[in-house]
This record gives sequence, structure tokens and C-alpha cells, in this order.
Amino acid sequence: MQDTGAGMESSQLEKLFEDELKDIYWAEKALTKAIPKMIKKSTSQKLIEAFEHHLSETNGQIARLETVFNLINKKAVAKKCEAMAGLIKEAEELMKEADEGAMRDAAIISAAQKIEHYEIASYGTLRTFAEVLNLPTCAQLLEETLLEEKGADLTLTEVAETRINEKAAHEMAD
Ligand SMILES: [Fe+2]
Repeated sequence: MQDTGAGMESSQLEKLFEDELKDIYWAEKALTKAIPKMIKKSTSQKLIEAFEHHLSETNGQIARLETVFNLINKKAVAKKCEAMAGLIKEAEELMKEADEGAMRDAAIISAAQKIEHYEIASYGTLRTFAEVLNLPTCAQLLEETLLEEKGADLTLTEVAETRINEKAAHEMAD
């Protein structure tokens, strides 16, 4: 890192922190619309339950982000996240292409896990930024969301491993 003086670095990091918050705020809001579509296209009851649970978590995550904006005295503003927009678009295309059933569930899980991994990367970075900026309450809130995203990812892996991959392989063999 260039030695430009702590003040300069800290204000640049603050700006980056705020920009990343706006990005993930947009992403979470987009997900409250995308997850219900995934629920509608899913067959496995376990998968539907996992999405329903994560949808309610997502609403809580949006509220948490609004608290973080509040804590840094900034207005909660959503800025289009091109990466998330692309991941959601890809999920929609996969859902359109796959036939209903275990194959489509497997496709939905794969798309949803890419989304979770993007969120895990984002919240990990945001939490670290908050720590460096000496914003412990923000860091704590972001850590809570990070744990939920990791949990959602793990649940999707479990659903995939216990049933869907097996069934999809079966359907392919038929
Ligand atoms: Fe999320």
C-alpha cells in the first residue's frame, strides 16, 4: 500500500466501504425478488424450505445493512450490482432451460451457490473494512450476515448431496 498518510487512506477506504455497501444492498433487494422465483421452480421440499428460510434471512440482512448505513451516517442507497444482476440472469436462464424435477433442482442449486459465494466474498470484505475503519458494531452486524450466508451455502450443499445429484444422475441414465 502506498504511504499517502493514514487520513487519506482511511477516507478512501470509507468511500470503498460505502460503495460496497450500496452494491450488496442492491444485491439483497434483487434477491428478495429472485428467491421466490427459485422457490416456484424447485421440486424438492427440502430445497423449497431452504429457500424460504433464506428469503426471510435476506429481509433481515437488508434491515441490518440499513442499520450499518445509519451507523456511518449515510443514506441507504442501492447501486446496481452488475455481478449479482448477471448471476440472477444466469439462474433464470438455467431455470428456463432445464426440465422440471431433480435436474432443474440441481441447476437451481448450482446457480444459488454461486450467488451465496458472491455474498460470502462481499460480506467478508465488508466486515474486514469495518474492522479496519474501527466500526466494531458494523463489523459485528456484517459478521452475522456472513454467518447466515455461509449457513445457506452449507444447507444447499447438503440438499444437493443427499438427494438431488443422485436423482439427476439417474434421470440422465434413463
Ligand atoms: Fe444475503
